[in-house]
Amino acid sequence: MTNRANAANLGGGRTRGRSREGTMGGSPTFPTLSEQSLDEHGVIHFHLDQLERALREFDPAAAAEEGLRNLAVRIDSFKDRLDEHFGLEEDGGLLQGVVDAHPPLDADVRRIKTQHARIGEALESVRRVARSGNAGAAAALKADLQRVLEMLREHEREEDALVRRALKQV
Ligand SMILES: [Fe+2]
Ligand SMILES: [Fe+2]
Repeated sequence: MTNRANAANLGGGRTRGRSREGTMGGSPTFPTLSEQSLDEHGVIHFHLDQLERALREFDPAAAAEEGLRNLAVRIDSFKDRLDEHFGLEEDGGLLQGVVDAHPPLDADVRRIKTQHARIGEALESVRRVARSGNAGAAAALKADLQRVLEMLREHEREEDALVRRALKQV
C-alpha cells in the first residue's frame, strides 16, 4: 500500500472514530466538525484522484462491454463513499453548524445541498450508462464522468471556503 493510501485509510478511520465519539458524548463542537470535514475531504480527494486516473486510462475507442462494466464497479464504490460523505455533511451537523455560526451563510448552505443532489444524480446517470455496457456510449460516458468529477472538485473547494468563513465567526 502506498503512503498516500495509508494516510487516506487512517484519515477515514480517524474520522469515523471521532464521529462515533461525537454521537455518544453529545454533539461535537463546530470547530471539531470542521476539522473532521477537512480530514474527510482529504479522503474524498484520494478516491477522486484514483477514479480520475482510471478514467484517463479508459480509451473509449477501444472500450468493450467489459471495460464499461469495470468502470461501473469503480463508480459504484466511489458513489457509496460519496453518498456517505454527503450524508455526514448534511446530517452530522457540519452544514447546520455553518448556519448557526453565521446565519447569513444559509443561502450558501442551501446551494451546497442542491449541489449534493445534482452531483448524486449526475453520477447515478453516468453509472447507469456504464452498467449498460454499451460501447457506443463510451466517449460520451468518459466526457460526462470527467465533468461530474470536476463539478465535485469545485464543490469541495467551495465547501472548504464556506467552512473557513464560518469558523472566523466562532
Ligand atoms: Fe459536500
Ligand atoms: Fe464535502
